[in-house]
Amino acid sequence: MCGIIGYTGRKKAAPIILDGLKRLEYRGYDSAGIALLTRREDLGLRREDYGFQVVKQKGRLAALEENPKTAKLEGFTGIGHTRWATHGEPSDINSHPHLGGSNRVAIVHNGIIENYKQLKAKLESKGARFVSQTDSEVIAQLAEHYYSGDLIDALIKTFNALQGSFALGVMCVDNPDIIIAVRKDNPLIIGVSEHGNFIASDVPAVLNHTNKVYYMEDGEIAVINKDEVTFINSDKEVITKPQTTVTWGVDDAEKGGYPHFMLKEITEQPKVLNDTVNITFNEGENKKTIDKIDFLMFNRIVITACGSAYNAGLCGRYVFEKLCRRSVEVELASEFRYKDPIIDEKTLVILVSQSGETADTIAAMREAKARGAATLGIVNVIGSTIAKESALCLFTAAGPEIAVATTKAFSAQLILLYALALKAAANMGRLTEGALLKLEDEIRALPAKAAEILENVDVLQKYSSNCIGYKSVFFIGRNIDYAIAAEGSLKLKEISYIHSEAYAGGELKHGTISLIEDNTLVVTISNNPALHGKIMSNAEQVISRGANVLLLGNCGGARFEDCGNEKITFIKLPCCHELFSPSLSAIALQLFAYYIAANKGLDVDKPRNLAKSVTVE
Ligand code: M6R
Repeated sequence: MCGIIGYTGRKKAAPIILDGLKRLEYRGYDSAGIALLTRREDLGLRREDYGFQVVKQKGRLAALEENPKTAKLEGFTGIGHTRWATHGEPSDINSHPHLGGSNRVAIVHNGIIENYKQLKAKLESKGARFVSQTDSEVIAQLAEHYYSGDLIDALIKTFNALQGSFALGVMCVDNPDIIIAVRKDNPLIIGVSEHGNFIASDVPAVLNHTNKVYYMEDGEIAVINKDEVTFINSDKEVITKPQTTVTWGVDDAEKGGYPHFMLKEITEQPKVLNDTVNITFNEGENKKTIDKIDFLMFNRIVITACGSAYNAGLCGRYVFEKLCRRSVEVELASEFRYKDPIIDEKTLVILVSQSGETADTIAAMREAKARGAATLGIVNVIGSTIAKESALCLFTAAGPEIAVATTKAFSAQLILLYALALKAAANMGRLTEGALLKLEDEIRALPAKAAEILENVDVLQKYSSNCIGYKSVFFIGRNIDYAIAAEGSLKLKEISYIHSEAYAGGELKHGTISLIEDNTLVVTISNNPALHGKIMSNAEQVISRGANVLLLGNCGGARFEDCGNEKITFIKLPCCHELFSPSLSAIALQLFAYYIAANKGLDVDKPRNLAKSVTVE
């Protein structure tokens, strides 16, 4: 939810930290802050005049950059933070870094300290004075409380006292060249470069300087100075860790001339689909993993995820059930562990997550493992918690996704769910070799069809630009079109702030149709020839109550000849097998949402109140 970065090296730290924060801003953007330390001999200061230089500011990173105090920051070691507020409103004082009471220790924190009230009361009873409303300040105060000359000892005691989740960067005035990092349940990487070393919440923050990283594990402590990185455990024993070379470059995490990351990422989808198909259906890591799965071992399949990843699961369910004739459950990860789920060692639990760090999905995975179920991650971020902890993991070849609204990762998730459904059906003897190959060919054809939609973007752009005045938009579909309608609705409301809801076409008349009036837009999705007549009847029902209809679908022109009605605008999508049609509908729906939000002049990549990676419950 928050982004943290730290740098110590031979270059000036402030510009490096600010640049890193820019690349982490997708994780939260309520406020930002930076703390630097300079060796006192460099400053010619007496001990008592020496301390942290801190600038913190409510609002976007730009506000911090424009603060005149930021330009005056000096030093080669520092930590920075971009915040998604949990405890305490977005304000200057609640921004990170936080300092202990005597300003000896500074920390940046991503996560939630669940027992902060108890710790705070204890420290206050011993004389500590807190200045912020945050849970995080307790970490700095506690570290100072325990500090008596050895920062690592103090931090080990501090970590042992904390309950909750944390990724931390810590500095101490007595060790001005050192940053200490530790994680529990929140991501943290260490970057090593020729001019210095880094801690960061995510790889893009360091890519301008290095592609050599270490992924930290829970409980590990990293001690970094300008020349080296040392990993130790809580007994202060040195640990050896494998270094990873990141294969994508800084350009992948740049806008590349597009006005927004979201548009860039939508546009990248033909390549992403192609890459994901390649590593999944040709020779690649995903194929090897899928080959290992014996679906006959399971009598139950559960897909669990949050947000768009959950919607991908909804689409996947239709494909599994149609091809395997086996029921599949799709559960919201935030509900999963609280419903005493009926799962055991004969259950396969599929966890879908772009970030691999969504707190609820991680908790669902751990719950499933604790009950003996087999776990299979579908993840975009290599080295993430779900990638590491799930028994098997498939990777979406989407590359870094920066816009808060997911697009290309969602599309890649669909491909992997199709692939699993095909494998399951083949495993269960439900598909002949010929039928399997035919369906695989349909999937291989998707990247070119996605490109076709993007080549004809003008029609959607023009239509969507005229939709900015709608107060309410409904999305309807039947069967798998209903599943993708849910994603269309989420995408629209998330970035345009227009109220929207998704309904099964037949369900509107059971209550919601009372909300349809003049100037309501109903986006109707129709990709199933057998259900086209039914969904068109639903469209007629809303039109006769004053609604306008945008009809998106691929059933073939003849079926849409009845669209002479001036209240209906039909935008035809390329033809494809109905089971894989969500891949094409998704792109049209993403463009629809994007152009509305962009035409409203909104901050499309960073919608209000949201963060890309939801690492709190
Ligand atoms: O990283 P994850 O895929 O686990 O994230 C799940 C949701 O938070 C995410 O899909 C969210 O709904 C997106 N902002 C939707 O665009």
